[in-house]
Amino acid sequence: MLLTPERTCPQARTRRFLMVPPTEFTVNYEINPWMDKRKPVDTERAMAQWEALVAAYREHGHDVRLLEGMPGLPDMVFSANGGLSVDGIFYTALFTHPQRVAEAVWHAAWHQTHGSRVVQATQINEGEGDFAVVGERILAGHGFRTSLAAHAELADVTGREVVSLRLVNPSFYHLDTALTVLDETTVAYYPGAFDADSQETLARLYPTAIRVAEADAHHFALNSLSDGLHVFCAADAAGFIDQLAERGYAPVPLDLSEFRLAGGGIKCCTQELR
Ligand code: ARG
Repeated sequence: MLLTPERTCPQARTRRFLMVPPTEFTVNYEINPWMDKRKPVDTERAMAQWEALVAAYREHGHDVRLLEGMPGLPDMVFSANGGLSVDGIFYTALFTHPQRVAEAVWHAAWHQTHGSRVVQATQINEGEGDFAVVGERILAGHGFRTSLAAHAELADVTGREVVSLRLVNPSFYHLDTALTVLDETTVAYYPGAFDADSQETLARLYPTAIRVAEADAHHFALNSLSDGLHVFCAADAAGFIDQLAERGYAPVPLDLSEFRLAGGGIKCCTQELR
């Protein structure tokens, strides 16, 4: 009898995250299509949702570290954008919009005092918002925020393969709104967020990827965080939750709707420390 190699079962690995409490969170500028200064943020509700996310991570054994939010930096809660931590290196963010530029300094300072080798980026990039580590490879988004030059710089700095993917839909302006890493070999993504070449690249690199429907993508399905088994994901991304369960992942549905007012969600609030 011919034995086909078994698909490995999803397995959790304990993670370390850096998160910023939403003490300063509000929408007082507009830098993506989700943001509307006229729609008020319910600060208490945002805090409760964020605390529930932290609690869910901790209940699943993950180590959550905190960096204080700074006055005047309402988007700092989106710690994923503060830089990329990989192999003990911290490649700093260099934000596209002036409103967010100062956030990078606080992240770099935190990493400096917590033992990373901090590498100051010279090219525009928004950290894990546009960089996704999948096993040995790094997928990198461009088109709205992070520059192609930063992809090359990151490859230089880390010695890792960096695969560029072009984002074309302004609602999915960061890679982590269009693609999520499920484990070292599997991703989920919304094809419509990418140009034709990038769709081909993804299909070639990840033939078993989960392709997410447009409606779920609009519910921030791809702004999920997976530990390899548990997938912390938007509660209203119903189709995606079914797809995950079919593949043997364990969805952990959470409501981060208040952060959608700024174009953010679970993954945006989470920077992984590697
Ligand atoms: N308002 C923020 C911005 O437009 C949201 C950032 C969301 N972060 C993310 N990793 N996608 O920059």
